[in-house]
Amino acid sequence: MGGTIAGLAASAADSRDYVAAQLLVSDLLAGLTTQASCVLLSEQVAQIDSKDMDLAVWQKLLQRCVHWLAQADVQGLVITHGTDTLEETAFLLQTLLAPRKPVVLTCAMRPANAADADGPRNLRDAVVVAATAGAQGVLAVCAGRVLGAQDVQKVHSSRLDAFSSGEAGDIGRVHQGRVDRQRDWPAPNASQTALLDALLAAPALPRVEILLSHAAACGATVDALADPAVAARHGAPPVRGLVLAGTGGGTVHHELVAALRRAQAAGVRVLRSTRCADGFLQPRPGDEFPVAAGLSPVKARLALMLELLC
Ligand code: SIN
Repeated sequence: MGGTIAGLAASAADSRDYVAAQLLVSDLLAGLTTQASCVLLSEQVAQIDSKDMDLAVWQKLLQRCVHWLAQADVQGLVITHGTDTLEETAFLLQTLLAPRKPVVLTCAMRPANAADADGPRNLRDAVVVAATAGAQGVLAVCAGRVLGAQDVQKVHSSRLDAFSSGEAGDIGRVHQGRVDRQRDWPAPNASQTALLDALLAAPALPRVEILLSHAAACGATVDALADPAVAARHGAPPVRGLVLAGTGGGTVHHELVAALRRAQAAGVRVLRSTRCADGFLQPRPGDEFPVAAGLSPVKARLALMLELLC
């Protein structure tokens, strides 16, 4: 898919100045030595900096995953991906495919020609996980850790070990070519074929925006977001959902509450998450704005978009 793992720096000595998505996946595999006994086939699905992920790329990736997962002789998939939206792609794939085979996203925090490039080890580890008997579900592998799609979140902007599974904990670790598992693999969900078909056929995703609750918040922001006339003036579709990244336990600044009520009354779906990286929001009886239990704001946004698609 591209990303820093396929990125190149102008100079190996200064890996901060680089362009993502320069090498092909075949280039990445050419230098790979793996202890896993498997045959590797590769396909270039996209070549992007993952900050620019969009519906068309996701549709193509989903189609190719469906194709390869259906092959009886395919044990698992490895997807090289940028770190920036890896958690969104992982969540989408797990929600729509919930595969009985492993689909392992991997990445890097240093470009491929950096002196301390981390991509080769991450790719090697990802292949080990994908080749592990019994492995299943959508996973992320980075810095020796195996994280589940539901939990994985990028929490550091530059550290090699940039991801966290939060309080759920990692699925396991890759150690000397073996997976030491600490938790169950992600479970295959009920079939989501109708939802998958709807997403693959969709010309656009329902528009859902994320709003942050913070000190000295202003309700006019919500009114502007929820106003279809404002959207139309910008040639954008109307907002159908708002995900509120609330403070702490999902609390909302009082300045936003009245405006959110107005938006909800006008038919905009409002969902609450938390701006905290860790912790788990629990729905309570009588919640005025429903809670996206256990989902970060970006994953809650995806969940709501999928719900609005049908
Ligand atoms: C990207 O997300 O494609 C660029 C950043 C990265 O991979 O770390």
